[in-house]
Amino acid sequence: MSEREPEADGGIVAELARMSEQERAEHFAEVAEVVAPEREIAVEVGQTLLEVRDVTVRFGGLVALDSVSFTIRRGEILGLIGPNGAGKTTCFNAMTGVYRPTSGQVLMEDRPLARASRHKITQVGIARTFQNIRLFAEMTALENVVVGADARHRTSVLGSLLRLPRHQREEREAVERAMALLEFVGIADRAADKAKNLPYGYQRRLEIARALATEPKLLCLDEPAAGFNPAEKEELMGLIRRIRADGYTVLLIEHDMRLVMGVTDRIVVLEFGRKIAEGLPAEIREDPAVIAAYLGADDDDVA
Ligand SMILES: Nc1ncnc2c1ncn2[C@@H]1O[C@H](COP(=O)(O)OP(=O)(O)OP(=O)(O)O)[C@@H](O)[C@H]1O
Ligand SMILES: [Mg+2]
Repeated sequence: MSEREPEADGGIVAELARMSEQERAEHFAEVAEVVAPEREIAVEVGQTLLEVRDVTVRFGGLVALDSVSFTIRRGEILGLIGPNGAGKTTCFNAMTGVYRPTSGQVLMEDRPLARASRHKITQVGIARTFQNIRLFAEMTALENVVVGADARHRTSVLGSLLRLPRHQREEREAVERAMALLEFVGIADRAADKAKNLPYGYQRRLEIARALATEPKLLCLDEPAAGFNPAEKEELMGLIRRIRADGYTVLLIEHDMRLVMGVTDRIVVLEFGRKIAEGLPAEIREDPAVIAAYLGADDDDVA
């Protein structure tokens, strides 16, 4: 017999699914204690983490981003706001290797990212969520997060999870970290459910957990509160604050001004692809150019 009994039933995933709510809660509490102290992210607030330098993105004749520059400092929550079509998602895409800027550069810790593949982006410590949710629909919530961790470490955590008994310890660690992340974002009770069967709000938070699983230095959230009611938005803002308190730097795209005011440290405002303002929330709120941009926008954009 090998050193441990082979588990005929799918291992820890199935095991967790079988536990009662009470058992799971106890298990998560233990896991949270084990996992949390492991991660130490050195944070020196104020240092530049990422710099968007003079970035222009053109789509044919359309200038979606026009010489935009700003920096993201370690440990802050930076809001990137602006009316529909302002260029917020394009900016994310230029930062995360989806589009190559037509001109300009993105620098992560002083190193240019212009030619970085998406895998490289993960390796340098940038993770993102998408405006339109992208999850592995047929995988469980837990598996979606394990895959996130996999993307970072490049060892086949998921492969070992499914196939190789000798990796049981690593599997268990990976799964427990993933479980702790699900707990952190508040959706651990549905860990064993397929992503496609989760309520919308859970899917949004699962995307965040999966992004966090890559242990990013910078977490980029593209309208994570889209489609939420005010109470859900408030809850999500609480989560974003906890993420920052945990040592992450956050870039938050949101076009609801009222929402970002409450959670961000600084705000960059785009309109028609240009940066029209940058400053503290209180300054942005009073900025005539910003007010004009939002007065010209849809009602739901107005703070
Ligand atoms: N792949 C693309 N091809 C052509 N045009 C694009 C592409 N992606 C974005 N655009 C255009 O670039 C401009 C900026 O779009 P972007 O999606 O970045 O705006 P946004 O600020 O994220 O808006 P929203 O609040 O609606 O998400 C828009 O005019 C959009 O139509
Ligand atoms: Mg967008």
